[in-house]
This record gives sequence, C-alpha cells and structure tokens, in this order.
Amino acid sequence: MTPRVDQDELKRTVALAAVDLVAASLDAGQIVGVGTGSTTNHFIDALAKLKDRFGGAVSSSVASAQRLAAHGVRVVDLNEVDAIAVYVDGADEVEPGSALVKGGGGAHTREKIVAAAADRFICIVDESKVVDELGAFGVPVEVVPMARRSVAARLRALGGDVRERRGFVTDNGNAVLDLHGLAVTDPDGLEARINNLAGVVENGIFAVNRPDLVLVGSPDGVREIAP
Ligand code: A5P
Repeated sequence: MTPRVDQDELKRTVALAAVDLVAASLDAGQIVGVGTGSTTNHFIDALAKLKDRFGGAVSSSVASAQRLAAHGVRVVDLNEVDAIAVYVDGADEVEPGSALVKGGGGAHTREKIVAAAADRFICIVDESKVVDELGAFGVPVEVVPMARRSVAARLRALGGDVRERRGFVTDNGNAVLDLHGLAVTDPDGLEARINNLAGVVENGIFAVNRPDLVLVGSPDGVREIAP
C-alpha cells in the first residue's frame, strides 16, 4: 500500500523545489518577491537559508514580511527596487491554462502587485489546488469598506452568491467579499469585469498576471504546468 502523504508535506516538497529553481539562477543583489500563505511559508523558511546569496525580498503581506524578517532576510519596499527577479506564491485554484484564484488569506491585492512587477512568477501548489475550471473556491474581492453593499449587489447581479468576511480587514484596511457559485469560464473577462466595479480594489482571479510556471506537489513528485 502506498503511504498517504500529508498535504502539508506536499506543500513543503513543492516549496523546496521552487527554492532549488530560484537558487539556480539567483545573483547577489537580486530581489525575490514573496507571496503569502502556508505553502509560501515553507518557501520562506527554505529561502532564508540562502539569505546571503541575494539582495532581499519584497513581501506581499505583513505576515510574510514578519516571517522573512524573523529569519534575518532583508525586506525591501517595492518602491525601493528597480526589479524583482522572481516572485513565488501559492494559490487556491489553478486551471490547466495556469490562470489562478488567490486570496484565501485576503492578500491577493498586494500579491498581484508584486507578481506583476516581477520578471518571472512561479506558483507553488499541492495537487489539491488543481482544477479543470476555476470557481468552486469562490472569488475573493477586496473592496473599499464604504462600497461593501453596492459592490455586493453588483457581484450578485453576475449570478453568484456573495459572502462578506466578517471581522476581516486586509493589510490595506479594506473588506473582502467572496463571490461563490459562479463557474469562471472566462478568467480574463471576469477578472476585468469585477475590477471595473467602482469600489473594488482587486479580485483574486490571476488571468492577466498568470504565472510563467506552476509547480504541483503530488505523492509522485513535483510536476510542472506552463501556460
Ligand atoms: C493569500 O491571500 C492567498 O492568495 C494564498 O496564496 C493562497 O490562499 C494559498 O494559500 P495556502 O498556500 O495556504 O494554501
């Protein structure tokens, strides 16, 4: 009988594969973009062991910045760097064309900003995140607090059900609405359509900024999905 591999172990395995990949091309002085979440935490812990081989990290959240700093990694502001060599982050869903849903932790706005600023985006997931079509997880939408109700009504008009994350405030001081019950058949179109609603800061569909490479951890090893 094949031994059952625990999900966190798969996250760690894929994170270590990403560190190997990043380390192979990292030059002194280069900046690494760092995402948010439990998979990325494994990446941070392993990357930190190489902290003398690169210039520092731009973080996508307060939580990841604190974890990096606790390891002694230099955390730099995005506005202080000329380039980010590579951005590494997890996801909540990945479809075969490499479009993602992110934002389970509510950090997707800063994640998308850092991903967009990076020369290369590597996404790291365990196999439970791979889906045929995005949508079952829901689409997180960061909203300016005064627009919660008006944006929720517009999102419902798209055909989904909307739930507010009560008591949750993003690193940017905003609210998060989760749009459920909608199959994301056109990730590029829905990403743009949601972002066009007044009051929306950013939504968790990463279609325009989809990763250059997705590494998937499974009990059989790490495989790649490229768009
Ligand atoms: C944070 O808001 C998210 O985008 C995370 O990157 C995503 O939820 C993946 O998290 P885990 O690695 O914890 O599954």
